[in-house]
Amino acid sequence: MITAVVYSESGGTFKTTMTANVAVALERMGQNTLVLDLDPQEGNLTSLFDVGEHRSDPDADNLVKHILDMPDGDFHDLIETSDEGVDIIPSHDMLGDFTSNLEQKISYETGMKNMNRDEYPRFELLYELLWEKQKLHEEYDAILIDPNARAEDLLYNAIFALRTLIAPVKPAGKGNLSLEGLDELVGNMENQLEIEIGLSCVVPSGVGQTNAHQQYQKQFENTEAFSTPVTIGNRESLMDAMWEARGSAFKVVEERWKTFEKDGEMVSEPGQRRVRDREVETLRKLSELAWFIATETFDTDVEPVLELDIRGHENRVIDLQEDALTETTTA
Ligand SMILES: Nc1ncnc2c1ncn2[C@@H]1O[C@H](COP(=O)(O)OP(=O)(O)OP(=O)(O)O)[C@@H](O)[C@H]1O
Ligand SMILES: [Mg+2]
Repeated sequence: MITAVVYSESGGTFKTTMTANVAVALERMGQNTLVLDLDPQEGNLTSLFDVGEHRSDPDADNLVKHILDMPDGDFHDLIETSDEGVDIIPSHDMLGDFTSNLEQKISYETGMKNMNRDEYPRFELLYELLWEKQKLHEEYDAILIDPNARAEDLLYNAIFALRTLIAPVKPAGKGNLSLEGLDELVGNMENQLEIEIGLSCVVPSGVGQTNAHQQYQKQFENTEAFSTPVTIGNRESLMDAMWEARGSAFKVVEERWKTFEKDGEMVSEPGQRRVRDREVETLRKLSELAWFIATETFDTDVEPVLELDIRGHENRVIDLQEDALTETTTA
């Protein structure tokens, strides 16, 4: 089974974008995929996929209630399916109060059992829910989490439950993690959680054509410390359109979503985007990334051929066993 937390120490390193795209790529490769959105903030995966209608309703059942073992309904009723087939447990505002709710639970239970607070397994709750109570390994081939890096308890629950990290990094600014920094961070988490954490790969993203960026990419590709299966270029237009298409970069290209000016207003519509080779190439990179995670990190057999059904165009085939893109005329 494939289980990974898309982790980055800093914000805005394209975590949500990457989680969504890898999830859709895995689903297209035949993996029944579930994503947990643990980020309560705006602009999260829940809003990207247009799910989580009740995320602000305090009375609605949500993942926090299940993690804290106080459910208000069936776990499976939390799961929504996006039109691209990926299952999602959406975010809820209560994720923002997770630690205070957890503290209350710990006070209550340790008081009842006359137990020391420090002995309470506060980072093991999500693990128990996903694997012991819900036995999701019997149902899914892949589970990904888009965490909120600042929420320590939730992040640690996510890492304790899934054990493997995918680390997007962005050139320049705060996102420029040093190579030692990442190692140190994983080491600290391993000590704190008393588990082994695997780093599947590091994915430089938003890499442009400047010398500094190219230099940065080489530095990452040449290190022995971790794998860098692909680099994702600076693809602002493609990735931003995901928020209009309410789906992955695959959906943007296939449905040809574009934002443009019409009668003095900005509108977003399908059927308008030009089919660009470099964007199809980016879909191939995303597929290669999902392929790497599935085969190299988790030793899972996945479908190596993805067909792109591009509206009003010839279909394209991404064959990960071949070096170049091949064209077919099945449209
Ligand atoms: N490869 C890319 N090149 C350029 N822009 C990108 C790329 N990938 C994503 N973006 C854009 O960058 C913005 C931030 O991305 P995203 O929301 O995925 O980051 P994040 O790490 O999840 O942020 P946060 O820390 O707030 O959760 C989005 O507008 C997205 O469309
Ligand atoms: Mg995010």
